[in-house]
Order: sequence, then structure tokens, then C-alpha cells
Amino acid sequence: MAKTTTSFICSECGYETGKWMGKCPACESWNTLTEVEKVPKGARAPAKSTTEAELLKEIKADNARRIKTGMAELDRVLGGGLVRGGTVLLGGDPGIGKSTLLLQVCDELSRDNPVLYATGEESAAQIRLRAQRLGVMGKHLYVLAENELDSIIDRAKELKCAAIVVDSIQTVHSGALSTAAGSVSQIRQATSQLTRFAKETGVTAIIVGHVTKQGAIAGPKLLEHLVDTVLYFEGDRSDDLRILRAVKNRYGSTNEIGVFTMGERGMAQIEDPSALFLPDREKSVPGCTPMCVIEGSRPVMVELQALVTKTVFGMPRRVAAGLDYNRLALLIAVLEKKLGLAFGDQDVFVNIVGGLRVDERATDLAIVCALYSSLRNIPLRAGCAVLGEIGLTGEVRSISSAEKRAAECARMGFEKILLPKSNRSGLTLPIDIVGVSTVEEAFSHLF
Ligand SMILES: Nc1ncnc2c1ncn2[C@@H]1O[C@H](COP(=O)(O)OP(=O)(O)O)[C@@H](O)[C@H]1O
Ligand SMILES: [Mg+2]
Repeated sequence: MAKTTTSFICSECGYETGKWMGKCPACESWNTLTEVEKVPKGARAPAKSTTEAELLKEIKADNARRIKTGMAELDRVLGGGLVRGGTVLLGGDPGIGKSTLLLQVCDELSRDNPVLYATGEESAAQIRLRAQRLGVMGKHLYVLAENELDSIIDRAKELKCAAIVVDSIQTVHSGALSTAAGSVSQIRQATSQLTRFAKETGVTAIIVGHVTKQGAIAGPKLLEHLVDTVLYFEGDRSDDLRILRAVKNRYGSTNEIGVFTMGERGMAQIEDPSALFLPDREKSVPGCTPMCVIEGSRPVMVELQALVTKTVFGMPRRVAAGLDYNRLALLIAVLEKKLGLAFGDQDVFVNIVGGLRVDERATDLAIVCALYSSLRNIPLRAGCAVLGEIGLTGEVRSISSAEKRAAECARMGFEKILLPKSNRSGLTLPIDIVGVSTVEEAFSHLF
């Protein structure tokens, strides 16, 4: 009998090696190499495939038709809905609301076709209780409390399901391997088995994974190449805001976000995120600058807040929440050099209200305005929104989607928009639009 060998796989990047190492040579992460059992070559039956090659133009592509989930926010992140035969991995911290969202989605999916919700985490009765709380009836929704993947797939075949949910991949066990459920090799095996099942039968598979961005439990990177779409559910458990992001999507863009709030009755969609992220204030407050970011295809208004205070202990602190720290340092340097402002003895904290993460140069001008406003303790002129990228010499550079952003500012009731001069021409909106080319010029309009 051929000997079973072991190898080590990095849970972050999937690097494979024959011996254990503390640090992965490929992605340089520490303590991510996990031992997996490898089926020896001789023990594997030679693969006999009956699949024929097809002429591209003759392939029937009916699975391009999207299945709506009943949640427009989720459909947008998916790129228009679920795809037949596609596999979706929904990741996120435990307790973030993955099971809740999927139960609500199953309600809609099971309206016309049988859907199987397989759970290895909860009992059928617990699911029933949650469904009652959420007001989910699920016309053709079947619940299966089971850990064995093979029986889950058998039940799905018997029921002729259109969709299957496996909650979670960490709790299912594939009979093909002897290792325990939750191990890296099991998770990989179970995912590829489910992906194969979905592709062969045209069933849509949704897999839940308790995975943090850092890949704390089982590296999401390991699964990413096995599935078609990877979604992450983000949010602070102490807060009810939840943001759904696509990390990978074979059937759509990865820039779109879905915004939800989690409550007693489950996930509620936020169709107008601008209204959610923008605090409604009568008066302008020092350190606050409204701006507009582009999330996928949608413009979203957010408020940027800066707090500049005298440093108490020697080293001044710079803290950026939701923004790039290095960009903040660069913008402070521009303000010091070009406008002669002194931040050397000031702590600087910058935050985007609502917990959104933004990585866009178009927010530069809003950041410097908030910094200046807080440093001098004077508010921006009320009703103004600010857009623009800043160059190293303090010039305001053009931004993308200027028209979309300006229109959103107008829709949200702003009276005046400052944007780069180069973006000004051709914009016609029923509000005051001012094109600026330097930071000083922007300040002269705002303060
Ligand atoms: N009766 C309830 N009312 C409101 N929220 C609840 C209730 N019961 C549970 N929750 C919320 O649901 C969350 C669990 O959601 P769940 O969908 O099970 O998360 P996940 O599947 O991502 O681990 C808990 O963190 C809790 O905040
Ligand atoms: Mg759960």
C-alpha cells in the first residue's frame, strides 16, 4: 500500500511545502502553515473523464440568467443576482448576521423551487425559532441539521433543490478525508466537493465561512480560487450597520457594496446610504467636511471628521480610521509646507462617520479642509461639500465621476460644491458649483 504523506499548506496564500516552517516564504505570514494529509498518487484511481469538448458557439449558456434573491442590495453585490451552478462563499466574523441574511434570502429563493438549508451549527428547532422571529415562512424551504457533507448533497439531490446553503463550511465533514471537520484539508475538500456538485447539477450553492479578513480560522485565500464569488460581511457587532462587499466575483464587479442594518426582524436594506452616513445637522461644526465617495456604481455622501489637538506626550499622534494613514501624513505635510500651518505639536485624528472605509484620492481636499477647520476651530460654510485630489505642490487635481458626485451632493440638499477646476466645465446643476485649482483658493471659499 502506498504511504500516506503529509505536506504543509499556508492558510493565507495556499503555498505548499514538504516541511514545516514558522514563516510562509511566499506571503511572509507567521504561523500559517498547517499540516494536511495527502492522498498518495498510487492510491488514487486514474481519473477517467467522459466530458467532451464543445464548440464555443454551440454551448448553451442558459445559466447566465440571474436568480433574484429578493434583496436588491445583495443582488447588486452579486452582479445582478445568483447564478445557476455558481458557488458563493459568504464570509464574516461569527455573530455578524450571515445565517440571518441567508435565512431571509432562502425565503425568497424557495418561493418556486425547493431550497435546502443545511446547518451544522444549529438545530432545526433553532432555525425555526429564528425564522419565526424574522417572519420567514419559506414555502419550499427544507432545513437539515447535518454535518456529513455526502448526506447533505444526497438530500439536495433527492429534493431536486434549486439552491443549497451550507452553514458553515467549518462544521461539515467530508467522508473523503479522515481529518476532523474544520481543518484546512477538510474545508478545502468540502468546498471543492460542493463546487463540483453545483457545477454538475446547476444548483446554486451558498457556503458560509467564519472567516475574518485576516483569515483567522481558515484562510479565505485557500477557498477563494475554488468558488465563483466571495462576499464579506463587515461591521461592528456593537453597531447595527453591516456592509457586504465582494472580494472576488466571476460574474460581476467587486467594487459594489450592499448596506444593511441588523435588527430584531433581521437584515434591513439601506437603499439610500447617503442619508444614513450623513448626520443631519442644521449648523456646520468645526472639523467636519461632507464629501461624496463612489462605492461601485453608487455615489455615497459621507462626513469626514478631523480632530486636531495639542500633543500632551512628546510625539504627536496621527490616527486615521477608515482612511489611508500614509495619505493623511502626506496631506499634513502639504499643509505644513505650502500653507505654513504647524501640526508638529498637534495630535491628529481623522475618521469617516459610519465606519465606512474609503480609499479614494478624491477625498484629499475634504481631508485638508477638515484638518484646517479643526486646527483653527472654525466650521466650514454651511451647505458646502468638497471634492478633489491634492498634488504634492498643493494643487487641486481632477477626480473621476465628478458629475455623479456633484449630482448626489445636489440631491442631498447641498447648496455649494467645491471641485477641481478641470472638472468644472460642462457641469450644469441647480446649485452653486465652484472650480478651484489650489488649496488656498478652496479655503477662501469655505472659511
Ligand atoms: N432576538 C434577537 N433580536 C435581535 N437580534 C438578535 C436576536 N437574536 C440574535 N440576534 C442577533 O443575531 C446575531 C447572530 O446572527 P447570526 O445570523 O447567527 O450570525 P452568524 O451566522 O454570522 O454567526 C447575534 O449577534 C445577535 O446580535
Ligand atoms: Mg450562523
